[in-house]
Amino acid sequence: MNKNDYIYLDHAATTPMREVAFEAYKKTEMDAYANSSGGHALSRKAKNILEESREYIASCFGAAPNEITFTSGGTEADNWIIKTPFTHKETTAELTTTQIEHEAVLASAENVQSNGFNVNFVSCDSEGVTNIDEFRKSINSNTLIASVMYANNETGVIQPIKEMSKIVKEINPNTLFHSDVVQAVATKKLNFHNLGIESAAISGHKIGGPKGIGVMFLKTGYKIPSFLHGGKQELERRAGTVNVSGVAGLAAALNEQQNNLEKDVELIENEKTIFENNLKKNIDLIVVGENVERLCHISNIQFKDINSETLMVALDLNGMGVSRGSACASGAQKPSHVLEAMKVDEQVINNHLRFSFGWNIQKGDGEKCAEIVEKTIKELS
Ligand SMILES: Cc1ncc(COP(=O)(O)O)c(C=O)c1O
Repeated sequence: MNKNDYIYLDHAATTPMREVAFEAYKKTEMDAYANSSGGHALSRKAKNILEESREYIASCFGAAPNEITFTSGGTEADNWIIKTPFTHKETTAELTTTQIEHEAVLASAENVQSNGFNVNFVSCDSEGVTNIDEFRKSINSNTLIASVMYANNETGVIQPIKEMSKIVKEINPNTLFHSDVVQAVATKKLNFHNLGIESAAISGHKIGGPKGIGVMFLKTGYKIPSFLHGGKQELERRAGTVNVSGVAGLAAALNEQQNNLEKDVELIENEKTIFENNLKKNIDLIVVGENVERLCHISNIQFKDINSETLMVALDLNGMGVSRGSACASGAQKPSHVLEAMKVDEQVINNHLRFSFGWNIQKGDGEKCAEIVEKTIKELS
């Protein structure tokens, strides 16, 4: 967790790259740098790394290799799946999503809406779980895509994905059920087909892989228009020279992550629980989503009387990096759209901080972090 004594608790924004991922990235750049689409021996070497990595990455999610297309990250995968199917469609086509999605989905949905399509933004309850009845009512024979994130990046709250996919398929078997699993993949083992997920967005840098690499999973049988036009890479689905080193780094990160997942999740869960329980002893706070299923690595805390910006700056000065919520929205002083959707009281909506743990956590970190937060709050009062 520590780099030069600075405590990094912002893994939901991005994670440090795992050594194995860095090594795989570097080795590929040095030894297999040729264009994977070329026709000579070095290209074949790059192509082999690409296809072996694709096969391995697919197997981690119970998917087939041809269901995996590499992208520049989660944002590109979400944009691709949400926006392109509406190209050349009658404006009777509809999109259903939720009010708590990451900006990559929300802004894509708003783009679809601005092109004249009906978009349903389904609300959630006060714990951050999507309202199922409203979701069911929003699906109809015109629904082209239903997009629901597996778990929220600000609160860690998990959505009833399997149930929602089932609802969609019962009402309209032709609707594509998409899930942004970018945050969930960090600490959950997911089998897309078993969960009823038909397309998904994954990002390398959330699991200790390189930045600038991601995956667009699309179930066999579905076709979506290309997002980037140009060469015929990635089975003619995505143009552009493939980032083979990034793919190799992602595969290596995933391999280490999957081999350690059970023990890492247990440690993170324990340390996070110690962190939350210790803080609760002396500080007036609410842990968001405490009564529902959450990802183990995210702890979103509402402090009763402390402004989050003030606390974030003070924590930074005391050597701890946290964030108010989505990195994509930081800098903007706007309240979080996720907390707004959860109808968090206006008086405390700017009193939330997200503490997010990661793969490099160590025993004792929960206690240590709680001590620093407590000390910082005392200094502020
Ligand atoms: C839930 C979620 N979706 C999508 C993204 C975007 O992923 P990327 O940074 O790879 O574009 C993020 C990153 O913060 C995220 O948390």
